[in-house]
Amino acid sequence: MNRSQLLYAGKAKSVYRSEVPEELIVSFRDDITAFDGGKKDIIVGKGAFNARISAFFFSYLEEHGIPTHFIRMTDERTMVVRELTMIPLEVIVRNRAAGSIVRRYPFQEGQVFSPPVIVMDYKDDTRHDPMINEDLICALGLLTREEIQTIRKLALTINRHLTDLFSNKGLDLIDFKIEFGRSGDKILLADEISMDSMRLWDRETGASLDKDVYRFDKGDVLSAYAQVVKMMVPEGYGV
Ligand code: ADP
Ligand code: CDP
Repeated sequence: MNRSQLLYAGKAKSVYRSEVPEELIVSFRDDITAFDGGKKDIIVGKGAFNARISAFFFSYLEEHGIPTHFIRMTDERTMVVRELTMIPLEVIVRNRAAGSIVRRYPFQEGQVFSPPVIVMDYKDDTRHDPMINEDLICALGLLTREEIQTIRKLALTINRHLTDLFSNKGLDLIDFKIEFGRSGDKILLADEISMDSMRLWDRETGASLDKDVYRFDKGDVLSAYAQVVKMMVPEGYGV
């Protein structure tokens, strides 16, 4: 497969044009960053774990009625996706308080949100991804009010599916970030769903099994990611 034309190299993935119109090739790299790019490293093997679990979740969600950009894996770190016009929003679903929400508001770390809290950030590294609200999203022309409701509903449904999958394995999904894009008048789930973009706590020990292991030097990042993939993705799934 020809993937010579690099369209975009982000912080953790590279996006290439494919020979097939309206398809893109996404390569999950081993780069890891935190704190607005202030901490950076390469963790050999990380990209493949994130690609594998993302592919598994996208397929699972697609089977359960959520439209996603995922088409197929071509190797352990590479997936073919539908080309979308990305909506520059980071949609964050929070089941319990952790991270920026605890720093910015008087919540206790681990406090349960029932119902879950959805926060949206405007995706713009130069502006440090500021939190955004419905009026601003409409004023910027990113989404209509109806589309905001569609995305909120999708996010909550995705949360239910992921929470159940993790819960069955003794893991608590604390929060996660997803992105959406447009194809014509359709809105699809895009980007990734991986240990880089969620917080997961072991129910028994409370240990983090996500990027917080890297952010706060809590242990071996690759082993944590490997453990989650082993627990969640059935043997023989994918390429
Ligand atoms: P970042 O841009 O945050 O540094 P990545 O390194 O993950 O992120 O880069 C991947 C980029 O590809 C992101 O900007 C993401 O919005 C974009 N993207 C993800 N899925 C698609 C898609 N289906 N079509 C077009 N762009 C996509
Ligand atoms: O604590 P921090 O500022 O890193 O982030 P947060 O706002 O608490 O992030 C909530 C969730 O979204 C976490 O699971 C992050 O890993 C994820 N996130 C992400 O994947 N990408 C971002 N740019 C921001 C948050």
